[in-house]
Amino acid sequence: MSIRKKLIAANWKMNLNKDDSTSLINSILSGISSVDPMNKDILICPSFTLLSHVMLLLKGSIINVGAQDCHFAEKGAYTGDISALMLKDLGVSSVILGHSERRLFHKETDLDVCNKVKAAHKSLLKVVLCIGETKEEKDKGLTLSVLKNQLDNSLNCEFNAENTVIAYEPVWAIGTSVTPTTQEIQATHSAIREHIASKDKTTASNIKILYGGSLKASNAKEILSLQDVDGGLIGGASLVADEFLSIINS
Ligand code: PGA
Repeated sequence: MSIRKKLIAANWKMNLNKDDSTSLINSILSGISSVDPMNKDILICPSFTLLSHVMLLLKGSIINVGAQDCHFAEKGAYTGDISALMLKDLGVSSVILGHSERRLFHKETDLDVCNKVKAAHKSLLKVVLCIGETKEEKDKGLTLSVLKNQLDNSLNCEFNAENTVIAYEPVWAIGTSVTPTTQEIQATHSAIREHIASKDKTTASNIKILYGGSLKASNAKEILSLQDVDGGLIGGASLVADEFLSIINS
């Protein structure tokens, strides 16, 4: 059985400015001195405009920096977009792709996400691929089929446990303070792993599957100790130093 190192990832979304992020990062840095980097990875994904600033603040620390999206093309006439190659050039390690807010507000399809995944992998960025069902899909009993489709259609065949992390984020749990039960989370994560195993057993046993959606200090211990949960993708609670530190330490 493989030992998967936990990953605690912060998704700052469209929040914070230079001053806010400086004090948040400083508080996080002073609180994580006791974290053993051998058993936990930490990733912070700020907005594009804060990437350089946050990377400078985190230089020499155990925390990695990621972006929240990238374009599928390497370069070209795409006003306002940022390519994976540009992110790599900046020195970020990872990129979140397929987040439900991108799928919803930017009408990103699985094919769009797949093309972005390919671009990110080509630029040697690690992908945090988000998948998740809506409330309506859950109520119709479609959760697993939705997740399997998203996995099959958003990932290129070259994904593996080194270049990809899966984040299961039920859309209805994001920013709502509502989460699935721990039994539901474990069952869904295990089904995702089984689905990957049907194609590649080694990848399935090594790949990290994060849980995201209203993860906070008060529920982190329970959720993060589930067998098939290898960490968390945290939105709201990652903007509060004490909450984020407590999740890291749980
Ligand atoms: P939340 O967001 O923790 O605020 O629910 C998680 C996410 O969208 O990644």
